[in-house]
Amino acid sequence: MLSSSSSLAALLGTEFPLVQAPMAGVQGSRLAIAVSGAGALGSLPCAMLSTEAMRSELAALRDALGERPYNVNFFCHQAPVPDAAREAAWREALAPFLREFGIDPAAIPAGPGRNPFSTEAAEVLAEFRPRVVSFHFGLPAPDLLARVKAWGAVVLASATTVEEGLWLQAHGADAVIAQGLEAGGHRGHFLSHDLTRQPGLFALLPQLVAQLRVPVIAAGGIADAQGVAAAMALGAAGVQVGTAWLLCDEATTTPLHRAALKSEAARHTALTNLFTGRAARGIVNRLLREAGPMSAAAPEFPLATAAIAPLRAKAEAQGSGDFSPLWSGQNATGCREVPAAELVRALVRGFGRAG
Ligand SMILES: Cc1cc2nc3c(=O)[nH]c(=O)nc-3n(C[C@H](O)[C@H](O)[C@H](O)COP(=O)(O)O)c2cc1C
Repeated sequence: MLSSSSSLAALLGTEFPLVQAPMAGVQGSRLAIAVSGAGALGSLPCAMLSTEAMRSELAALRDALGERPYNVNFFCHQAPVPDAAREAAWREALAPFLREFGIDPAAIPAGPGRNPFSTEAAEVLAEFRPRVVSFHFGLPAPDLLARVKAWGAVVLASATTVEEGLWLQAHGADAVIAQGLEAGGHRGHFLSHDLTRQPGLFALLPQLVAQLRVPVIAAGGIADAQGVAAAMALGAAGVQVGTAWLLCDEATTTPLHRAALKSEAARHTALTNLFTGRAARGIVNRLLREAGPMSAAAPEFPLATAAIAPLRAKAEAQGSGDFSPLWSGQNATGCREVPAAELVRALVRGFGRAG
């Protein structure tokens, strides 16, 4: 009988059941190509890409990888209806910072910041027919999901609770990513916004494994081969690792973000909605300390981004990450300044140790 890890690798078409977490804003096709080229599953995050950028990134993946599999990732939130009163309250909450940097609140352009999966995106994707497609914040509407399934794509999606895992399995996910509370970046929740319902990985993973028929992929705080082995020992069919890739040569992580990840500051992360309007885990910096880390004034995802953008730009121009989203999970100890293929080789040693 095949073990669950070799059956997940067979499902994904990879040598190892290791998924490089898609990470919008800090990586593109280059990291995905390096990871897929080394036998794991590289991912292209599309939440911050225009359809033109997506097409050119997908062409780069296809040209570099040929038949080797890769994953293409989308957010699937409901696009929000802008609310002028809430927007004004948000700018009011940020007024002391905006004044400090000489930014006129009235001159800040409104903008979406992150795009949900759409008909246009599905059309571009159909030109490339990727083997694996993953979603964050639930699944897209049934007609859009059916388009992806039409070419036989394997569909992955993140669950932050047992209820979400059961929902994803019932609505067409071929494997479920158990996203523990320690994970970096945005929480993938979609059934409840109550963060107190979300367990850490070692509480969530065995419960999902017990309840689901589909394979469960462990994510959150996995930083090295021992972490991989521990997740596999708890019944995971594979692992998805995010934060550990952030210092790799092929990531586009900014120098300020890299410096924070390498410093002691990386030991203190928090969930914050200040950067986008949705809870995401990042290193605590001045904005989180002085305005959050959570704020009731932040507009709905992803509208909070617009008013933060000029603050971030001005601070970064002065060499400061005080207003930058320094996304990181609770365990940044696996971040290494190496080619991604080397990190793949280090992490997959954990598969040999499980059980
Ligand atoms: C910088 C960063 C950006 C992220 N962006 C995305 C994204 O675009 N799509 C997604 O599905 N998950 C995203 N995530 C979450 C990951 O899928 C995953 O849950 C997380 O990285 C696992 O925890 P770890 O960071 O502790 O390894 C992001 C995580 C990080 C650290």
